[in-house]
Amino acid sequence: MAATEKKNAAPALTPATFSVAGTTVEFPVYQGTEGPNVVDISKLYSDTGHFTFDPGFMSTASCESKITYIDGDKGILRYRGYDIDTLADNCDFLEVSYLLLNGELPNKKEKEAFDRKMTLHTMVHEQLHFLYRGFPRASHPMAVMAGAAASLAAFYHDSLDVNDPEQRELSAYRLIAKMPTLAAMAYKYSIGQPFIYPQNEMGFAENFMHMMFATPCEKYTVNPVLARAMDRILTLHADHEQNASTSTVRMAGSSGANPFACMSAGIASLWGPAHGGANEAVINMLEEIGDVKNIPEFIKKVKDKQSGVKLMGFGHRVYKNYDPRAKVLRKTLEEVLGELGKIDEPLLKIAIELERIALSDEYFIERKLYPNVDFYSGIIYRAMGIPSKLFTVLFAVARTSGWIAQWKEMMDDPKNKIARPRQLYTGEKQRDFIPLGKR
Ligand code: ACO
Repeated sequence: MAATEKKNAAPALTPATFSVAGTTVEFPVYQGTEGPNVVDISKLYSDTGHFTFDPGFMSTASCESKITYIDGDKGILRYRGYDIDTLADNCDFLEVSYLLLNGELPNKKEKEAFDRKMTLHTMVHEQLHFLYRGFPRASHPMAVMAGAAASLAAFYHDSLDVNDPEQRELSAYRLIAKMPTLAAMAYKYSIGQPFIYPQNEMGFAENFMHMMFATPCEKYTVNPVLARAMDRILTLHADHEQNASTSTVRMAGSSGANPFACMSAGIASLWGPAHGGANEAVINMLEEIGDVKNIPEFIKKVKDKQSGVKLMGFGHRVYKNYDPRAKVLRKTLEEVLGELGKIDEPLLKIAIELERIALSDEYFIERKLYPNVDFYSGIIYRAMGIPSKLFTVLFAVARTSGWIAQWKEMMDDPKNKIARPRQLYTGEKQRDFIPLGKR
């Protein structure tokens, strides 16, 4: 749907005038409900014979969306209009997934039905166990997850028709419900323990932690404070607008690819250290610092451009203010460490002191470098006993609900087209071919 037709959109604005190579054209300007206006340049090529050039999409809105809104300068993140801290404090992950998928929060009856339906999809096809057993035990769990997510298309043929809204819905349930099972299986396989089946009487995060930490040998009860913290982390990571992995999912899906294949593409993109891998880097950095007394020396290195050292967990492409998710996580971190009696954890002391220095130091203030979500999530995971290799996997478990909501939004849009960016070609012009023997 064009932005001017949107329910909440303001009347059309004064068109933008653009001149190139002697041709002047006008482009419509659209105003969203919030955020910067956009210039619709889709006719630029047909009207002027020119493309735009915007590597990394620094100034390009790739789609229209009603799901998530971010104002990086003000430190705002909202799902469907609700502030992230309000959702994290008052809802659970499945409630938030319902919101992302359907646009509204569920009432009690709708929530019960949604939770039940999700629960009934948590188990995976038994044959998948053999797929896992084919991986080397030392495989990176993201490699396993990318393979396992794509393989779901081989098991669930009845939800592959992307033109059927009911099948799209069924795939959404399957993906959100099965990702924790696949993630826990990747962990269990890596440590040589048996897979633990999902338990239908448990909540989403509790069930996930049970599948991660229980063994068949004795009863394992998930600590409710830790389950709540895990649930909150999942909520905070559930969606983040058109980031690299979400854009990857949309791009893969624009060709009509099935949702399981699209999620696998999203996992591959998330795997990169500039996207999903930063919380692991935070832990490595805190360990390297080792003691509060070493912080001044470390900060000196961070400020020295020649050193190449960055303060991991600080700074963000979009947030030029305190990441609203980091605020919630800081509170959660204290709850978790308090519950586990680890409030004296040396890494926490280093993290708090780093944060104090960074928030009062001119270098960081000038550059608007604030803690991001990854600064605290790694310390929480570590305290829970989750190995750092799995951090990005947990991110994928959470982000699946955003990916699938964004994919569904795209598929529901009658104006959806295959994504096909253009390029600025700087290679060779046509050349004469020289046969192999004469080169
Ligand atoms: N430590 C020290 N200096 C930094 C940091 C940092 N973490 N981040 C940015 N800067 C400096 C840059 O060197 C640059 O300085 P200059 O103006 O003197 O050249 C200035 O701040 C602006 O930095 P950019 O790189 O232009 O900022 P950008 O928005 O492109 O980068 C990024 C954002 C990649 C997240 C960066 O801040 C970074 O590398 N942070 C550490 C890694 C991290 O925590 N990533 C997680 C992001 S959250 C997520 O993906 C869920």
